[in-house]
Amino acid sequence: MSGQKEGNSLYAPPARVSEGAHFQTLEEYQELYDRSLEDPDAFWGEQAREHIDWFHGFNQVSDCDFSNGMVAWFLGGKLNVCHNCVDRHLETRGDKVAILWEGDEPGDVREITYRELHRQVCRLANVLRHNGIRKGDRVAIYMPMIPEAAFAMLACARIGAVHSVVFAGFSAEALRDRIIDAKCKAVITADEGRRGKKSIPLKRPVDEAVMACPTVEHVFMVRHTDAKVPFYEPRDIDLNEAMKNERPYCPVEHMDSEDTLFLLYTSGSTGKPKGISHTSAGYLLYTMLTHRYVFDYREDDIFACVADIGWITGHSYVVYGPLANGATTVMFESVPTYPDSGRYWDMVDRLQITQFYTAPTAIRAIARNGDAFVKMYDRSSLRVLGSVGEPINPESWQWYYDVVGEGRCNIVDTWWQTETGGIMITPLPGATPTKPGSATFPFFGIEPVLLDDQGCEIYGNDVSGLLAIKRPWPAMARTIQGDHVRFAQTYLDPFPGYYLTGDGCRRDEDGYYWITGRVDDVINVSGHRMGTAEVESALVSHPGCAEAAVVGFPHEIKGQGIFAYVILKEGFDPDAELVGELRNEVRTHIGPIAAPDHILITTGLPKTRSGKIMRRILRKIASQETGNLGDISTLADPSVVEVLIERRAEL
Ligand code: PRX
Repeated sequence: MSGQKEGNSLYAPPARVSEGAHFQTLEEYQELYDRSLEDPDAFWGEQAREHIDWFHGFNQVSDCDFSNGMVAWFLGGKLNVCHNCVDRHLETRGDKVAILWEGDEPGDVREITYRELHRQVCRLANVLRHNGIRKGDRVAIYMPMIPEAAFAMLACARIGAVHSVVFAGFSAEALRDRIIDAKCKAVITADEGRRGKKSIPLKRPVDEAVMACPTVEHVFMVRHTDAKVPFYEPRDIDLNEAMKNERPYCPVEHMDSEDTLFLLYTSGSTGKPKGISHTSAGYLLYTMLTHRYVFDYREDDIFACVADIGWITGHSYVVYGPLANGATTVMFESVPTYPDSGRYWDMVDRLQITQFYTAPTAIRAIARNGDAFVKMYDRSSLRVLGSVGEPINPESWQWYYDVVGEGRCNIVDTWWQTETGGIMITPLPGATPTKPGSATFPFFGIEPVLLDDQGCEIYGNDVSGLLAIKRPWPAMARTIQGDHVRFAQTYLDPFPGYYLTGDGCRRDEDGYYWITGRVDDVINVSGHRMGTAEVESALVSHPGCAEAAVVGFPHEIKGQGIFAYVILKEGFDPDAELVGELRNEVRTHIGPIAAPDHILITTGLPKTRSGKIMRRILRKIASQETGNLGDISTLADPSVVEVLIERRAEL
């Protein structure tokens, strides 16, 4: 039973997915989509009344004006996101599994029902309250993928504290900068994480970070691996012990629709990471609706998004979206290749997963180890296979579709960003005919446009341009922590009237959207956003580094790899030891995910006569696409190009 293949590249939704789906034809999607744009306030107002449990209804659907950075939704409404994700399910789904946790070892499973979730979240919320955390306070979360990470996020939401989850792969220094920027009052962490049998130190980097963070009063620590780690009382609090001493009930704070729910740091084209700020009602509604419709979620499904909660995908589709829908959400601690490349499908088989959501980089990493690892396991429970984080190359799409899904599942290639809060361009399972590599069409209420360099809209099909969004939507970021001017300057001011995404995009002859990748100095490494400026500033902090220029280059598994050109100060030898030190410098300042794949030591960079580095040329050299370098006559010293090409070939 294979999904019908139309023409060369159009795949009709498999019949078994369409059957009983929320949307079963493209016309059904189109009808609601049109309605959502005709009268957005009527559409969103209706959705918000239907799907959110309000303590007090809103009196205005939206108040938005891109020209002065104003975005607000569901004004005057009172709600609590934790109540919507937990409490409201107790009556009808108390015994349903809310979190299905799979640990590092296959089969090490914990099932947490909604009732249990409520109790744990209440206990944790009480611990926070009794240690002085109040509404509006910021709390950093630096945790492995364990249920306590979700408890911590929900507990913050319950008492109105703002969480800032920092991916546990970031270094102590990166954590410190984020804690300082958000003025966090506490950190929630664990002794260690565990991934593929390897221990990931957490408490130690937290100790190192917090030394330089005067705002932090307490460090709450979960005992996960029971590793021996330093413990400094009274600052440090054993979270497991403290929770035992708290009652399993904690009243919820009544929050305004526009109260901040969380901050999440992401990289931009300039040096400093941005604390993207999301608020309560709009984010909750949008993640809930996208989870329901993009994955065609139904009551008895077992939903698995294997992203880390340190990224927006983990926030929206491990925690908030699924729990708001009363779903069973899988939380996965390990890696796709442990103990072997069959891990995902072993899990799908054992846990009877119905929707599986991962990144192209993981698909590529396991696909190259052969089909046998997939075929060993039964995947008949699967209906929807999702992809996120970077463009999915058609070969990987095809492999996901044919081998993993056996032509019986709908692939949903979902385009979105930390700033968008939820999925923006995506097929709907059962309804949208798909094309390998295309994110297809916008979600309800989303109006994407393509702009030229002057900010003029490019109409019609078979065109390319800068991807922008023409009107606000409920889950869009509201500001950058501490820097609303930067928020406006980055997203709204470049082309008045539009939210600028930073991605390039093509709309094909059938109106399908194809994201072509970033058009700024942000690169996408294994689906993780990395600012080249951040890596450069880490490199130049090495005493031997006079200048650094970092670009992305195509990488077979990671999508993009990191390529660094470095000019040394006099007296430093360009030997392997120094290259190792430079790489370590990046690990220390940012984390292992930012370590360059290649470091090319050089004495010169291609610069214009005014001293500007021509990154276009550096990108081509790194990618070894030197057939067409374009005009290099404007360079101050064109001979440097030949030298770099030679050195690149030697790496
Ligand atoms: O370049 C786009 C790429 O990831 C960027 C957003 O990164 P981040 O904020 O970390 O969020 C990642 C998870 C939502 C985008 O600007 N991107 C994300 N999804 C896709 C994608 N590129 C192409 N296709 C996608 N499906």
